[in-house]
Amino acid sequence: MASTHGAAEVLVASNRGPVSYAVGDDGSIETKRGGGGLVSALSVVDDKLWVCAALDDGDREAVRRGVAEPGVRMLDIDADVYADAYNGVANSVLWFVHHMLYQTPLEPSFGTDFRRRWASYEAYNRALAQALAQEAAPGATVVVQDYHLALVPGMLRELRDDLRIGHFSHTPWAPVDYFRMLPDDIAEQLLRGMLGADRLAFLTRRWADAFTDCCTRILGGTSGTRIGVHGLGADADFLRERAHRDDVGERLTALREQVGEDRKVIVRVDRTELSKNIVRGLHAFELLLETRPEWREKVVHVAFAYPSRQDLAVYRDYTAEVSRVAQAINSRFGTEGWTPVILHVKDDFARSLAAYRLADVALVNPIRDGMNLVAKEVPVVSDDGCVLVLSREAGAYEELGEDALVVNPYDVTGTAAALGAALAMPEDERAQRTKRLAGAATALPPGQWFLDQLEALKAE
Ligand code: F6P
Repeated sequence: MASTHGAAEVLVASNRGPVSYAVGDDGSIETKRGGGGLVSALSVVDDKLWVCAALDDGDREAVRRGVAEPGVRMLDIDADVYADAYNGVANSVLWFVHHMLYQTPLEPSFGTDFRRRWASYEAYNRALAQALAQEAAPGATVVVQDYHLALVPGMLRELRDDLRIGHFSHTPWAPVDYFRMLPDDIAEQLLRGMLGADRLAFLTRRWADAFTDCCTRILGGTSGTRIGVHGLGADADFLRERAHRDDVGERLTALREQVGEDRKVIVRVDRTELSKNIVRGLHAFELLLETRPEWREKVVHVAFAYPSRQDLAVYRDYTAEVSRVAQAINSRFGTEGWTPVILHVKDDFARSLAAYRLADVALVNPIRDGMNLVAKEVPVVSDDGCVLVLSREAGAYEELGEDALVVNPYDVTGTAAALGAALAMPEDERAQRTKRLAGAATALPPGQWFLDQLEALKAE
């Protein structure tokens, strides 16, 4: 056990932290506070230390100059090691395994290049574990987030066996036969790394069970580690207040003008990555226009697809494919006064909220998704009620499945039919369903989600 310790009683570790930094034109460091779901969920505990990685040159420069927000310790990991760990392992291999995105026989293939990247993933996890070990007070509670840091619990346990260690997975967990595509030693190392925690938690029972299956088949059991489920809901108070500010109102007016009067609106909002299944969604919309000509000129698909992880070619190619398919639909069906697909790629939260308010139908059709908060946010914010077309492979399906129109994400014909049924749904039914969806979506407020985990972790 390490002889030194720090003073923090509650620690959170994640790849992306609550702040980012940039070097401004005058050479000074500018700080940007993140507004993601994790940041708002964790804000219920004031006195905590958040340990995270420097993600880019701006962050690294801030760390080197000693700029640090109170309560945040950002680690300056070697840029090549970080790129290998984040892009080369976490967002290509682990993301692809848990979301079942590989297209065999070409992928995956684990050779020497992968082994080099894996060594970086280990080094990255070790750097986080060492920082946590330094900062944690005796008997402190540490909650580690996500697939980027699967080895941290085991590494931290070796350094500090006095800590209460939790790990939360925001992704699905792969079924055991798929998980076993990973080389055996790596699969074992990942599971043992996670099992270093006192308690592991997942967004749904389905993902928790898949993890347990992997441990049973590969290791023979879960070694006494407790496994729990904590669904994450939408933050109703924040969303309703934010969605009625002036900047959202302005964007709503602009969107209405773009869409045109008396037209129905099908909305989708995603980061552009392969699990979101944006291309099949576009093809389903195209099929609707092809087979139900009465909807031509009467409906617009507003698709917000915000580029992410663009350092990786596979994500860049997918982003380009989304634009290509959207343009092809517009060339095929568009008319002088009607653009069937309005695609926006510049991330703008206020405009996303405006689209939520405007939507008649929300399309959420991921191939697999840990939860999917868009499915939960739209019914909360919607002005006039919105029909949710929802993939059965999203974690949110477990809570929202009864009042959504549920689709198999691979089935483009079925998705087109569901879009047609959603557009034709009588208003009173749509309103009733939206009300029930909003109730279910807000049943697990984000702050409570974190407090419940801390409490469960502290309970023996
Ligand atoms: O869904 C898993 C997750 O880690 C989320 O918690 C987070 O929103 C996202 O993926 C992170 O993506 P990025 O690679 O942009 O940090």
